[in-house]
Formats: sequence, C-alpha cells, structure tokens
Amino acid sequence: MTSLAEWLAQARQRLSHTADQPALEAQVLLAHVLQKSRPWVIAHSDQTLEADQINLLETSLCALQAGFPLPYLTGRQEFFGLEFAVSPQVLIPRPETELLVELALAWLRAHPARRRAADVGTGSGCIAVTLAHHIPDLSLLAVDRSAAALNIARQNAQRWQVSERIHWLQSDLLSAVSDRLDLLCANLPYIPTHKLADLRVTQHEPRLALDGGADGLDLIHTLLTQAARCLAPAALILLEIEAEQPESALALARRCFPLAQSAVHTDLAGLPRLLSIQT
Ligand SMILES: C[S@@+](CC[C@H](N)C(=O)[O-])C[C@H]1O[C@@H](n2cnc3c(N)ncnc32)[C@H](O)[C@@H]1O
Repeated sequence: MTSLAEWLAQARQRLSHTADQPALEAQVLLAHVLQKSRPWVIAHSDQTLEADQINLLETSLCALQAGFPLPYLTGRQEFFGLEFAVSPQVLIPRPETELLVELALAWLRAHPARRRAADVGTGSGCIAVTLAHHIPDLSLLAVDRSAAALNIARQNAQRWQVSERIHWLQSDLLSAVSDRLDLLCANLPYIPTHKLADLRVTQHEPRLALDGGADGLDLIHTLLTQAARCLAPAALILLEIEAEQPESALALARRCFPLAQSAVHTDLAGLPRLLSIQT
C-alpha cells in the first residue's frame, strides 16, 4: 500500500538529480496520472494508490528521469497565463518568449488602428493565440513549415476561441505571403547548428524548431529579406534572438532596414532576447 504522500516523497528524491523543481514535477505528474488537480493531490495525500496507477506512474517517472520533458508527458504547458496543448511535434513554449508578447501587446494597445499581425514559425500557436486572446479585434496570419505544428496550433486557437481571427498557412517563412502587415512577430529557430549536438533540448524537441543554420541567424536573415514586401508603412517587427547574438542580429537588422529604428531588449534575467525593428 503506497500513499500519495509516500509516492511524492520518493518521486521527489528520484527527480532531484534531473529536475529544476523536483517536488513540483512530482505533484504535476501525480495529478496528471490521477486526472486530478495539483491542489487535490496535496489535500488527499493520505489516500492510497492502486497497482495500475503505480505502474503508470513508474513508467512516467522513468521517462522524466531519462530527460523526457514533463509538458510532453502531460500534453500541456502554461504560457502568458494560458494553458496550451503541446506534443513532441512542437517546441514547448518558454517563459522568455513572453517578452515578445508583452512588447507586441503594448504596441498594439498604443496603435488601435493597426490590427493586422503575423506570427511566423507559430509552433504550438502560443504567440498568435495569446495576442488574439488579449486583443479582440486583431486578425492574424500564423505560418509554419510543419503541418503537424499547425494542427496543434489550431487546437489551441479553438480552445481559446480565437480561431475565426487566425488564418493558418503552411509556408517556408513569408514566401507564400502577400499581406500588408502592421506587426510581424517571430520566434524562429536560432541555435547555431554546431551547438545543437551538445544540447539536451535537441533530444526531444523538433530539430526544425531549433536549427538556425551556421550562425543561428539564417532564418532570421531570410525573413528580414522577405519582410519588406509584406509590411504596411511604419510596421513593427519583433524577433526573439539567442542571448549570445545581439550584436550580429542588430547589425543584420540595420543592413536589411537601414532607415528603421532597431533595438535589442533584455528579459527579466537581463539577457538580450528580443530584436525590435520599427520601420
Ligand atoms: C522556436 S520554434 C517557435 C514556436 C513558437 N512560436 C514558440 O514561440 O514557442 C520555431 C518554429 O518555426 C518553425 N519553422 C522552422 N523553419 C521554418 C520555416 N522555414 N518556415 C516557417 N516555419 C518554420 C518550426 O516548425 C517551429 O514551429
């Protein structure tokens, strides 16, 4: 007979070598397998587990110990206060991408007549869906090369009831786009190819979402060369960048848009994570 409290204690111990927050991950996993909330699991920690529940928990715990990401096990990840469905076909939304959403929302609120936006490399749809959720008259184009990613993004848009305002497009960056956009957002792959082999993230998340080419800026460079013909006058471009590439990203922006105001913004950790280009 194993109680929830006993299982949580041993799971926390076993996850302590691999997880950033072992107690939290153990609770989230238990809540997921029991199909209850995390507060329920904590409040009922004296209840005992059935044999089939223990077996299922053991399989999931072994996967977590081997580095499989918890959001792929639960199928969920929170982003900007909303819950998103995820699968191994999409990148798990990251807190650092919330900086891009914050700046996009601030700009849209300051420019109420500018309501045509795009999210290129939409993945789970976390950027497009969050912007549509917060700006009720915004229309969006959400682009990805991956059909599987677009399916997940569509599910997320349905869940947050913004599907009618998002047009989905399977395309290589902006090659199939002829809109005049007010706001162009993108969190494109930006990890230099030679760094990928050493990173844990590449073991489970799609390479298509990570590989930014030789210097990490290949896709951003192509997007910027395509962007000019897809922008309305005085449009804003917001691009997430790798923390190690602010100078080269800024130089690229100034080459592609010499008359624009380009800047790099830091996140809460003080890292340069965002490039803005006000054309
Ligand atoms: C870093 S992920 C970002 C996903 C999501 N926007 C987020 O912030 O979590 C990059 C996304 O770009 C897509 N992608 C990669 N190359 C692309 C291309 N050439 N054209 C369009 N999308 C591309 C990938 O499939 C992936 O979904």
